[in-house]
Amino acid sequence: MSAKRIAVLPGDGIGREVIPQALRVMEAVGALVQFTEFDWGADRYLADGVTVPPDGFAMLDREFDAIFVGAFGDPRVVTNVHAKEILLGMRFKMDLYANVRPVRLLDSSLCPMKGIEPKDIDFVVLRENTEGVYTDAGGVFKQGTEDEIAIQEDINTYKGVARIIRYAFEYAERNPRLDGGPRKSVLLSDKSNAMTHAGGLWQRVFQEISRGYPQIAPKHMYVDALCMQIVRDPRQFDVIVTNNMFGDIITDLAAGLQGGLGMAASGNIHPGRTSMFEPVHGSAPPIAGKNVANPFGAILTAAMMLRHLGLSVEAGRIEAAVLEAVRQKKTTQDIGGPLGTREAGEWVVARVQRI
Ligand code: NAI
Ligand code: MG
Repeated sequence: MSAKRIAVLPGDGIGREVIPQALRVMEAVGALVQFTEFDWGADRYLADGVTVPPDGFAMLDREFDAIFVGAFGDPRVVTNVHAKEILLGMRFKMDLYANVRPVRLLDSSLCPMKGIEPKDIDFVVLRENTEGVYTDAGGVFKQGTEDEIAIQEDINTYKGVARIIRYAFEYAERNPRLDGGPRKSVLLSDKSNAMTHAGGLWQRVFQEISRGYPQIAPKHMYVDALCMQIVRDPRQFDVIVTNNMFGDIITDLAAGLQGGLGMAASGNIHPGRTSMFEPVHGSAPPIAGKNVANPFGAILTAAMMLRHLGLSVEAGRIEAAVLEAVRQKKTTQDIGGPLGTREAGEWVVARVQRI
């Protein structure tokens, strides 16, 4: 097997601290990978005005097996234009339609809820990643006056809805629970009681596609009720499929159950194409450069990417090492340990070499 080619975009803020730790861990575990780093981000934009070089996305697609990303966002770029063009550009222009966000509790100590054990939180949120309100369709009229009108369009296409719902059922079939048991349900979450046009499309397509998977129970919950239920009893969830905005919100809530944003991993996937993997958190400017950011979200994201590339053994070893770090409190302060970003990364590096 030849080495998997990985494009690395650390980006801004803590992205530049956590990504190097994840790269060291992938090297230490002996994964057959080859990294090429790109400087896309705020510094580059401020220096020469370039967000994405010409041919950038086509180049990533053509020359790499996967893309590994930190985060984008810098207070010096008030418009956030570089983040939008790079991050949303990758998702939209490379058509990475499935945002896969596993929600797993590694250790009871990380969960703010009482009486919850790791086996109780093991679900995944599949967020539609190319449509919805994030396409920035719409406009303003009479801006700056008392008659101002602002319209933000919610784009839902049959194709877009069908492919993420189908992905959810396929995911449920192919990805057993951590305890080895099968995933038994796919739950659609929407706001179809109030947003009837878009909700109606999602509901119809969900029913249509669910008929092809008789062994998996189709379920439904309005998104407001879902938020309450995730906190009340997270045991009931297996696979949740939802639109772009609801997925964004639900996964921050869910990250809170796993130990916070510093622990959450994600993939932006189009099956068969070059896909992109990034921790859920942003660039966290207030803590950037202080060696305090938790690198485990990025390291767990690396494991997710390796598994996607067929390197499951290496992925499993990385996950086991992070789990051990959490159990032994060899972590950053956000989850209760005494270590800095680099030291937590080093601990995992040493551990994966022994597993
Ligand atoms: P954020 O995720 O950067 O931070 C939210 C909170 O979580 C902060 O209190 C931060 O200190 C903490 N936090 C985040 N990651 C952490 C880690 N690894 N270890 C310890 N604590 C961590 O989100 P926020 O503050 O809304 O946005 C900051 C910047 O990041 C903005 O420019 C925003 O646009 C950008 N952003 C970028 C994303 C991306 O590139 N995917 C996603 C979310 C925000
Ligand atoms: Mg978010």
